[in-house]
Amino acid sequence: MLLLRVLPKAAVCAALLSLVCLIWVGVSGSAALHAQSPAAAAPSVAPSTVLVAVDQRPVLNLDGEWHTILDPYLNGLGGGRNGYPMDEELPAGSNKLVEYSFAKSPTIKVPGDWNTQRVSLMNYEGGFWYERHFQYQTQAGHRAFLHIGAANYRSRAWVNGQLLCTHEGGFTAFDCEATRAVKAGENSVVIFVDSTRIADGVPTLKTDWYNYGGLTRDVSLVTVPASFIDDFELHLDRATRSAIEGYVHVEGAQAGTKVSVDLPAAKLHAEGVTDADGHVAISMAAAGLTLWSPETPKLYHVVLKAGDDTLTDEMGFRTIETSGSKILLNGKPIVLHGICIHAEAPFRSGRVNNDKDVATLLGWVKELGANYMRLAHYPHDQRMTRLADKMGILVWSEVPVYWAVQFEKEDVFAKSQQQLHEEIRRDRDKVSVVLWSIANETPNNPTRTAFLTRSAEFVHREDPTRLVTAALLVRGDAKTKYIDDPLGKALDVIGFNEYVGWYEGTPETADSVEWKVAFDKPLINSEFGGGAKAGMHGASDTRWSEEYQAEIYRHQIGMLNKIPQLRGVTPWILMDFRSPVRNLPGMQDGYNRKGLVSDQGQKKAAFFVLQKAYKENGLGHAE
Ligand code: GCU
Repeated sequence: MLLLRVLPKAAVCAALLSLVCLIWVGVSGSAALHAQSPAAAAPSVAPSTVLVAVDQRPVLNLDGEWHTILDPYLNGLGGGRNGYPMDEELPAGSNKLVEYSFAKSPTIKVPGDWNTQRVSLMNYEGGFWYERHFQYQTQAGHRAFLHIGAANYRSRAWVNGQLLCTHEGGFTAFDCEATRAVKAGENSVVIFVDSTRIADGVPTLKTDWYNYGGLTRDVSLVTVPASFIDDFELHLDRATRSAIEGYVHVEGAQAGTKVSVDLPAAKLHAEGVTDADGHVAISMAAAGLTLWSPETPKLYHVVLKAGDDTLTDEMGFRTIETSGSKILLNGKPIVLHGICIHAEAPFRSGRVNNDKDVATLLGWVKELGANYMRLAHYPHDQRMTRLADKMGILVWSEVPVYWAVQFEKEDVFAKSQQQLHEEIRRDRDKVSVVLWSIANETPNNPTRTAFLTRSAEFVHREDPTRLVTAALLVRGDAKTKYIDDPLGKALDVIGFNEYVGWYEGTPETADSVEWKVAFDKPLINSEFGGGAKAGMHGASDTRWSEEYQAEIYRHQIGMLNKIPQLRGVTPWILMDFRSPVRNLPGMQDGYNRKGLVSDQGQKKAAFFVLQKAYKENGLGHAE
């Protein structure tokens, strides 16, 4: 106070003003601190899980229109009065300052990337909030999980303002426990998604596909009994092919809980009791089963029971293995006639997320005469593998360890492992999936090879019933190509990508290429091809014409057939797809044009070249 008497008027005012500010900041700051939303400080929450065969459970479907708030500055994560975990119920006449309202915000469809739903969001990468309300009936002695089919790329989820989980990875499903958050009657769910690409991400910054953001797959609320089947694995025994082996895990079960597995159509039954960890091994004689194959895609209704919980699934049974350089399906050598596919929706573009998209894409696969497909470069919507099971299409599934991820970083390894774990956990029950791919076109150096060798070992532990592969780069010149990447040692099947006739040479260059292979293992050509603008015609040496692309295919087929251990092929690619690195006006216009079908469904000449080769069994050798 002494100070006040001696200072001129202006100085006194200024001093008073700053004092007020100090008090205000103190108050609001602490208010902000107290009001800080749990999101701000990378909150530690229960890790998400993956409930197996959740798409076979009755759920409360939360798809539909969700309110949205665009948040490029991640303001809503900043806590304080700007936290967004739910709309604030303000009493009538309240004068409280609130600077957002989901209820008054525009809506967008879930599932769906946000980019193709609003022109203004076409090139948006960043923070984005989703909110909707739902009615729920609580059931005593039950648990609830929020199921998210995929959220690209990092996400957080709240129910009634309670943070349930955080997640990183744009192409795998995850489930977040909501038991303590849900209530009877009206509930709100808020999901924050940030599609920003990050250097230490999986994938990393640069990809030759469009970074569609958002809740790109189904969202639902799953209710299960207090002890329930969260995981199981059933497979046909490789040695005899006349027994089904596996296990069931019952989350929250007392030791000694009775578990049964039935295949009513085959009159097969097995039962056992859980151990202290809720685990029970399953083994049942299964002679006389119709084994699943592309020719006979037989699926059996499977009923699993544990205490009050019943889970059903539609599963096929087959064995897949290698023998020297052969791939054996149900003990017989097979050649894989395939095609690569991106999860780009035909006709409307954007992420594939419904039965119609999937039926169109797999319909074209069948029309090609293919028995196999490579889902590039990330796990696709579960509808793809479910329909592949039904249609008899073998599947290569992959995690987006693509090009130059930061192999030197342990946390990047942990991210890739988490994605592998989530991918395998979701699709372990899909008979069509025979190959887990751990990477695509990664630089051949010791750090990367050590990283991916650990990934291969991880996958073999997680799922010893399937084969591990990767799409490798080849080295050499126009005359001689070498497949001798040291990572090949860790793989069961070697995939290799090459673009003779497009990125190097002319289509005819392929005629004189000699291949030197360092491994006595099955080889799959995981990519070859070239671009063509649908409807553009010209001489076979006119780049971008359908004739040029078809010429590449003719010469590639001739070249690849000279490789004795070539057991499969997936040319790049079934359909043109959006890519931010393809910008030749009039030809690409933001699309990679290496499709055999345009994004508007026009079949290019090369489609019929490949179809002929597959129909005549003229590409690759089963043995
Ligand atoms: C690469 C890559 C693809 C890419 C393709 C191409 O091999 O794996 O993701 O789209 O080549 O260049 O078209």
